[in-house]
Order: sequence, then structure tokens, then C-alpha cells
Amino acid sequence: MKRDVIIACDFSSREATFEFLKKIKARKPYVKIGMELFYSEGPDMVRELKAEGYSVFLDLKLHDIPNTVRKSMRALGALGADMVNLHAAGGYEMMRAAREGLDEGSRGSSPLLIAVTQLTSTSQQMLESELLIREPMESVVAAYAENSRRAGADGVVCSPLESAAVKARCGAAFLTVTPGIRYASGTDDQTRITTPQRARELGSDFIVVGRPITAADDPDREYRRIAADFLGGEI
Ligand code: C5P
Repeated sequence: MKRDVIIACDFSSREATFEFLKKIKARKPYVKIGMELFYSEGPDMVRELKAEGYSVFLDLKLHDIPNTVRKSMRALGALGADMVNLHAAGGYEMMRAAREGLDEGSRGSSPLLIAVTQLTSTSQQMLESELLIREPMESVVAAYAENSRRAGADGVVCSPLESAAVKARCGAAFLTVTPGIRYASGTDDQTRITTPQRARELGSDFIVVGRPITAADDPDREYRRIAADFLGGEI
């Protein structure tokens, strides 16, 4: 699997997204489209990005009964996204159904299926008092990752600091997709953060970076710097 930097395109419109992407000159980057952009602009956003040569991570975090997720994943698979995701909390049967639907819809191109273990906005305290899960967060993340792997997922979204625990439980080939990437200054609202170099050392396969690139004075220079640090060399 080729490691890469994924730019989180957290924009509200097609125009703003393409305006931003024009500034990235190094190469056509791997981009992430989230719920805001997808719900605003619809599936054509994915088709258009793919037609222009971008790799696309469609971050819609599905979570529903298995039959609904199977049919929804079939529709997403047909759009041509390279990576899609769901909530591991939906359980084994839901994730199996997702894998089947995705493979049917994509006609064998098998997009990467990535499971969200626990959102990084969920604290240990919330895990216990609201979700009634009384295990340490790292054990919950590793157990959800293992269930995802058994169900046919290719990897999980987790903090870079949890990559090692996930790899230890699920094997080195099981992918970790990690947001929360920052240099020392400017952490925005991310708390469990690390640098691109450290994410590489910790075993992340993909880092997801939003504001450090999208809000930079020179997004192209920042993208090159982060990609060089994460991939270990010039891009
Ligand atoms: O701007 P920033 O680099 O913080 O963006 C990180 C991206 O990763 C955002 O699109 C955010 O929604 C996403 N994300 C996250 N934590 C997760 C899952 C997704 O920050 N657990």
C-alpha cells in the first residue's frame, strides 16, 4: 500500500474546493470530502474530482442496519471513490455487508474500506458515562479494529498515537488513517496531535491534514513540506 498525505477539503462549496485545489501545484493530491461538501454538492463532486485525476477519500461514516449499509455502499462504490468509511460501532454484520456492497458497486476495483473506531472527540469519561463502555480507550480502539479487520475492512481511522496498538493487534498490513497532524505551533481544536515525521515513525499509512494546508498562506509550500516529512523525501 502506498502511503500518502490526504488533504481534508472541509469547504462548503464546489467553487471553494476547486479554487483551493488550483493552488496545489506539486501534484494532484489525495483529497478527503466530508459530509458538508457531499451533502451540499452531491455525488457529482466525487465524479468530477475523479475525472480530474484526484484520489478521493469519501468520509461519510456510515452507520445503519446491514441491509441499508450494503445498498448505500453499492451506490458509493459506483462513484469511483478510492476510500470510504463507516463506524465500527455498527458491528461485524454491518461491516461485512458494507464490504460486499462496496465491492459489488465498484465492480471489483475494491476501494479501501476504513472503519472509525472511536471518534477523537470522545473522551474516556464520555465512553464510560454516556456510551457505558468501561474499558480503557486504547483497548476499545484495538478491539474495534480487530472486529473491523475480521469483517473485511482494510484499516481504521485512529489517532497516530494509537497506530502501534492497532498494528500490534491486527498486523502491519492493516491500515491506519490518522488525523491530528500539527507542527508545534497552532493546534486549532485538535488535542491528540503529532508531527508528520512522528506519524511516519509511529506507522501511519495515511495522514489526514486539513487546516495546516487549507489555511496556510502558501498551501502548495505547506503541502510539499508535510508530504516530504511524512513520506521521507521530496515529492
Ligand atoms: O483541519 P484538521 O487538520 O484538524 O482536519 C482534520 C480532518 O480530519 C477533518 O476533516 C476532521 O473532520 C477529520 N477527522 C478528525 N478526527 C477524526 C476523524 C476525522 O479530525 N477522528
